[in-house]
Amino acid sequence: MKTMIEPYRSRVVEPIHMTTREQREEFIRDAHYNPFLLKAEQVIIDFVTDSGTSALSTRQWSGMLGADESFTGSRSFYRFREAAQSLLGHRHIIPCHQGRAAEHLIAHAVIKPGDVIFSNTHFATTRENFEEAGAVARDLPIPEALDPASPHPFKGNIDLNRLEGSIREAGPEHVRFVVITVTDNSHGGQPVSLANLRAAQEICRRHGIPLLLDAARFAENAYLIKLREEEARRMTAREVAQAMFHLTDGVFMSLKKDGLGNTGGLISINSDEWAEKIRIRLLVSEGVTTAGGLAGRDLESLAVAFDEALDENYLAYRIASTCALGEQLAAGGVPVLRPFGAHAIYVDGRAFCPHLPDEQLPAWSLSVALYVHGGVRSWETGNVMMGRRDKAGGRWTWPALDLLRLAIPRRVYSSNHLSYAAETLIDLFERRHEVRGLRFIYRPPVLAQFVATFEPV
Ligand code: F0G
Repeated sequence: MKTMIEPYRSRVVEPIHMTTREQREEFIRDAHYNPFLLKAEQVIIDFVTDSGTSALSTRQWSGMLGADESFTGSRSFYRFREAAQSLLGHRHIIPCHQGRAAEHLIAHAVIKPGDVIFSNTHFATTRENFEEAGAVARDLPIPEALDPASPHPFKGNIDLNRLEGSIREAGPEHVRFVVITVTDNSHGGQPVSLANLRAAQEICRRHGIPLLLDAARFAENAYLIKLREEEARRMTAREVAQAMFHLTDGVFMSLKKDGLGNTGGLISINSDEWAEKIRIRLLVSEGVTTAGGLAGRDLESLAVAFDEALDENYLAYRIASTCALGEQLAAGGVPVLRPFGAHAIYVDGRAFCPHLPDEQLPAWSLSVALYVHGGVRSWETGNVMMGRRDKAGGRWTWPALDLLRLAIPRRVYSSNHLSYAAETLIDLFERRHEVRGLRFIYRPPVLAQFVATFEPV
């Protein structure tokens, strides 16, 4: 097979600071064994997130130079709205500063205490926002999503039988909405099929419940549908994305992932009543309705990105390069979650570190060891992010999967960078018994991963 090349070239470069193992041991100790608390320049390859870390294109930069920074009604907003609306198709387009702001606005504008919200899987911030507003946020992934080896092509699907049963059990009048996260970031970046979305919409419509998408990775989901679902084979990625959005009553999204923005978020919604409530909240907490806390140049950059994110040369390369990383790791024996998605490769922390019990946070400990070993920063979506302790502060409930995530910033790293990260992790796998367990020192009540501190056991 021919080498698949990056369908872009670099004209601006940022040097990487090289570090030694001894330095990294000191850096991570000073960061209390939380890779989030490292300084970015202490990292060689940064796979902590694909969020807000994309390289901007020449088209985005040239749009930004022509931006209109008027306080309200700026030309850049109307360009943004036009680009978003022609893709998403809803009546109202409301910008905001990032994904969790969109979640917060929806939570405070439309959720009432006692509401129930069902999802394939709520992302961590989504769950916190909805629960803070008094709702119960319940996940209904299909059983295959929790099996790291299952080859199911759409492990992001919502379990339709459980959705129907759970709506009946809760009473449809208590279900404020159903939200499907594309792709399912917490369970391996797995896509949701068009057939599943359509069936979920049918169930929601029958019960009079709105269906929303958390569409942070809509373009990658659309392209994975095109590759894996028969009915979409001859559609363009844009047509698939439009078909996904067409099935919904509304969408909220971070524009820092597939939106190719360094910041940004939006809510796209049909209901006039919800839009009014959301805009009032927006004025209180984010900014005017034609900016939502974003600068004109952000809106310009995002307007261009709705187009670039769905470029099929870019998406084909994105998915092929992520798969190549996954295959290299698998060939080295590393227990990786399959099938590979698009934005990240996930490693099974418990299988990598069988000598570490859940209390010693296998995937988190592995991410610290990986940083020390080769300066590669990753993120855990597992015991630290999703572990829950009962009210009395006693027993822990651990999530079904304890994963280390290597999230790949868009258009930033070359194949050699990916290969270096794979070699580092494979080398660590060969001496995996050396990975030391960690335990919490400080654990905040919510979103522990961002600020918690740890010590070696
Ligand atoms: N929804 C999903 C599916 C996400 O992955 C994220 C962020 C958000 C919502 C929140 O968006 O960061 O713009 O406020 N995920 C990042 C990550 C943090 O690394 O996966 P945000």
